[in-house]
Amino acid sequence: MTVHPGMGGPGMGGGGGGRGGPELRLAPGQKADVRRVLALFRPYRRTLLAVLALIALGAAAGVVSPFLVREIVDVALPDRREDLLLYAVGGLIAVTIVSSALGVTQAMLSTRVGQSVMHDLRVAVYGHLQRMGLGFFTRTRTGEIQSRIFSDIGSMQAVVTNVMTQIVSSGAGILMAVVAMLALDWRLTLFSLIALPFAVWMNRRVGSRRRVIVKQRQEKAADLSAGIQESLSVSGILLGLTMGRTRALVDAFTADSRGLADLEVRSEMAGRWHMAVFTTLMALFPALTYLLGGHLLLAGGGVTIGTLVAFIALQSSLFPQVNGMLRVAAQVNSSLALFTRVFEYLDAPLTVVDAPGAVALDPAQVRGEIRLEHVDFTYPGAESPSLHDIDLTIPAGRHTALVGTTGSGKTSTGYLLARLYDPSGGRITLDGHDLRELTRESLAASLGVVTQETYLLHASIAENLRFARPGASDAELVAACEIAQIHEHISSLPDGYATVVGERGYRFSGGEKQRLALARTILRDPPVLLLDEATSALDTATERAMSGALDAVSRGRTVISIAHRLSTIRDADQIVVLSHGRIVERGTYAELLAAGGSFAELAARDTDPAER
Ligand SMILES: Nc1ncnc2c1ncn2[C@@H]1O[C@H](COP(=O)(O)OP(=O)(O)O)[C@@H](O)[C@H]1O
Ligand SMILES: [Mg+2]
Repeated sequence: MTVHPGMGGPGMGGGGGGRGGPELRLAPGQKADVRRVLALFRPYRRTLLAVLALIALGAAAGVVSPFLVREIVDVALPDRREDLLLYAVGGLIAVTIVSSALGVTQAMLSTRVGQSVMHDLRVAVYGHLQRMGLGFFTRTRTGEIQSRIFSDIGSMQAVVTNVMTQIVSSGAGILMAVVAMLALDWRLTLFSLIALPFAVWMNRRVGSRRRVIVKQRQEKAADLSAGIQESLSVSGILLGLTMGRTRALVDAFTADSRGLADLEVRSEMAGRWHMAVFTTLMALFPALTYLLGGHLLLAGGGVTIGTLVAFIALQSSLFPQVNGMLRVAAQVNSSLALFTRVFEYLDAPLTVVDAPGAVALDPAQVRGEIRLEHVDFTYPGAESPSLHDIDLTIPAGRHTALVGTTGSGKTSTGYLLARLYDPSGGRITLDGHDLRELTRESLAASLGVVTQETYLLHASIAENLRFARPGASDAELVAACEIAQIHEHISSLPDGYATVVGERGYRFSGGEKQRLALARTILRDPPVLLLDEATSALDTATERAMSGALDAVSRGRTVISIAHRLSTIRDADQIVVLSHGRIVERGTYAELLAAGGSFAELAARDTDPAER
């Protein structure tokens, strides 16, 4: 779609650059990919061995038939031996039944393995992405991620299951057929195989074309899915409708969908003509074999009628196998393009990992003193730093407020405290421990964050609250909501705490969402509380009531509040004023007002007359 600002790929440090080119042979990166794909199957090698055995048995059963046919034509019929005829026909029937049964068992086992491998891959990608950190997601479209997890891995599944069984069964079938053919007559065998090198050569050409097309197709599909995700959501529809862009969005979608359809056709048709030529050639072979075999027979060259019939039967089972093998080779090429895309995600460096030997703080023991020591911070990929030399002590059990104009770096400072990013310079400590030396989990348990933008899951209110603390009792939910001044509102809803919150919480107003988010964090009862403009969407009366309640929860807790309205921080023990990523002033409300600096200016600009 053209609506999103074209973030391009997920921007992973020059990753897939060398891969997936249009070259004929496998690039080194792709060889590595093939090895990685094989490694995925390692846990299932026992089942795979069973599949192999079944396939070999099936192939062996398949080549028995022509020999039975030869017995019928050369011995049973000319010698009028009815018993031999019955045995041979019985054998033919038995072989058919056994092959079908083997086929079903083998298909079941290999589908299971294929699905398990895909499941493993899905889980691996999801788990990896969960630890990718915030930066990755600010650079990647949601739809793109979904597309890789569902569409790419989904398409791989069909290919992987097919490829595996096709390679083995065709391989075994071809081998057995050739051996049996050689046992019948080597001259006819050689003649039957002359077309093979040509077929293999042709197939390689087709394969490389397919790989390129499939890569394009998946990128297009990801674009489309990202566009759908963006434009067909509550916010997307709101934007489209209010901007009067509905038609344009439909047009853009139409163009993208057409592009995808074209690529689908191209990938489906790639090499079809080559294949058709090959298949036609193959279809001529039985006739030519009759000619050559008949000639040998008439010339007394040791070929019997039975041999000829059996040989043609083998040939007609050989060619589909060869065809299957070639098709599989083409599929391998396309699936490699899919694997490459998925491996790209798996290879993106994890940013959210615990350092070796990370300390797990017991939240109950945390005092909550935070120190920022000469902290500099530049967002990954950003040109200029967002924070410069922040040196600050946030005393335990006290209320510290961060204020400043929009863009001064308040939220960024909060991100660093919650370790959503690491500082580019300097360090941040909690009770003397560098945040980077703490486990993620214990940091999250020690520091509760109410973010500027609240995000609610599509689930009931109770479930949203329990996402923060799964074991919380109903009474605890109510207590937290009472503090956040939202209990009354929830109780007034027909379904109460069972009310389902619409996607991204759209059934609630901004202020209600903020209060829910606050209740969610209060429920976790963290020793340090970080509130990023958590009261900005509340009306003055609610805000007053809530700041009273907050005072109650704040007791004995370290509170860092990023405030929009200065009225809420009047009683803060320390107010820190940020401007352009630097600390410009600090002190209490009265001190800063008296100083007549930038805080006094902010206070003067605070337009709400009720708060002056
Ligand atoms: N993901 C990001 N990448 C690059 N720059 C960012 C990002 N987020 C914020 N910034 C920049 O960092 C600066 C501080 O932003 P922020 O901390 O959100 O300000 P505040 O919360 O004080 O309004 C701004 O100049 C903003 O443009
Ligand atoms: Mg902010």
